[in-house]
This record gives sequence, structure tokens and C-alpha cells, in this order.
Amino acid sequence: MLVFSSLSELRGWRAQQTADPVALVPTMGNLHQGHLQLVKRAQQATSQVVVSIFVNPMQFAANEDLDRYPRTFAEDCAALEALGVTAVFAPTVEDVYPRGLANQTSVTVPEISDILCGASRPGHFRGVATIVCKLFNMVQPDIAVFGQKDYQQLQVIRLMAADLSMSVDIIGEPTERAEDGLALSSRNGYLTTEERAKAPFIYQLLQQLAEQLQQGVAPAEVEQRGLTALTEQGFRPDYLSVRRQQDLQPVAAADTKLVILLAAYLGNTRLIDNLCMQR
Ligand code: PAF
Repeated sequence: MLVFSSLSELRGWRAQQTADPVALVPTMGNLHQGHLQLVKRAQQATSQVVVSIFVNPMQFAANEDLDRYPRTFAEDCAALEALGVTAVFAPTVEDVYPRGLANQTSVTVPEISDILCGASRPGHFRGVATIVCKLFNMVQPDIAVFGQKDYQQLQVIRLMAADLSMSVDIIGEPTERAEDGLALSSRNGYLTTEERAKAPFIYQLLQQLAEQLQQGVAPAEVEQRGLTALTEQGFRPDYLSVRRQQDLQPVAAADTKLVILLAAYLGNTRLIDNLCMQR
């Protein structure tokens, strides 16, 4: 497995890849089965798979967990090598943001970036769109794979790629879950034993709410029931919302493809999850 720690090394390699398509799996490292599933999906599409590992400071607010974000580079590389990944790209912050963050040119996808997670994390999706745009320019992938667990992120990236006429095929891969239903996430590692035992309630709730929508319960009522249930179970909900899938706008009568999205704190840990459904 090749490991590129600078942009120039990556570019030298990329220039020679003219035969097979190149797929990119962007990550912030601390890889778990969910990430490895994205890699496997990329490997189904092509033999040339690049995994980027970069904890992107631009998508963290000053009060967020950038400094304590787990960094496990050696273990990550071992797991990727075992899967037969072609290359890891792990640039430095200086390589990615040579002029610093204050005056960095950025990419903003309007509307969708300011709602749901974007409302409680101002600037987060600008940071995500900017780094993903930069990674696309650096790696020049034909295909890029993202998890549906970060559903809003996936739609932000799809809209960015379409709006900016990027020739990258964006694949959204279904969420990997623990046996008890908890969506796999690097942040699950922050949960205490007691919190970890409570956390699967989120997915159970999403399934119950999806059933209620199928039965014709109005989205606003479903949201209210969901928020009440989360609070009763000891979560501190940030939001729970039923939206239409393509742009996450409120559901209109004609919309059939819906997604229930939620973010809630368990202790100090903010968990997110979502469930797509058709009515
Ligand atoms: O989902 C993530 O891990 C990050 O937001 C991403 C897409 C790698 C951009 O930093």
C-alpha cells in the first residue's frame, strides 16, 4: 500500500493512473467497520482506491472536539492494508491550508448548509464542502464514496458536485450498525458503558417513527412524538425532523421519499442518525 503524506507525491502517482478509474474514500481516520464498508464499496467499483485521512480543522467550531478527536494512524493503515487499498493520502494541515484558515477560499452550498446539523454547527458544512472540494481537486477521483450515516453531509456534497459541474460519481453507502442497531461512529467511543447501553434506542425510535409515517401520521406529529420519547429516555435532543430526501426541505403533500433525521446528546456526546423511507 502506498502512503502519500504530501500533495506532490500524490499528484506524481495520480498522473500515471490512466487505465482504471480512481475511487476516493474521504475520512478523518479512527477507522471502524463503517469506514471499511465504504472502502469495500469503492473496491467493487474499481481496483484503484485512495483513502484520505485528514482531520479537517475547518469543519470544527472553536468549542468542538478537534483536539480530542481520536487519531489512530498506524491502526488505520494496518486495516486499510489488510483490505488491499491502493493508497492512503494523509496530508498535513499546512499542505491543505498553506495560507491558514482565516483567508481560505471556501465553498458554501446554500440553504441545506444552514438547517438541521448546520443550524447547531454554523460553518460546519462550509468546512466539509471546502475540504471535499479540495480533496476532489487533489486526488481527481472518478468515484467518491460517503456514508449515508451523515445524510445531510452526503446531500451537501451531492449538491456541491452538481452545482459546480464536478465529474465525480458520488456513491452513498448504507449505514453500518452494531448488532443492537447503533450506527457506527468514531464518537461512540466517547460514550460511558451506561450511555452505550442506552444509545440503541435511537435506531429503535427511528424505526417506530417510520412506521407511524407509513400509517399516515403527519410529519409534525411524528416529530413531536419523537422529541418527547428521546427526552423521556434521557437524551437531550438537538433536533428530530422529517424531511424530503433530495434537499432536506420540509415535507410537501406530494413528497413520497422521506428521511427522518435526528441529533441528540447523550451526556456530552452528540449522536446523529437517520432513516430513509417511502410513503
Ligand atoms: O465524514 C467525514 O469523516 C468528514 O466530514 C469528511 C467527509 C472526511 C470531510 O472531512
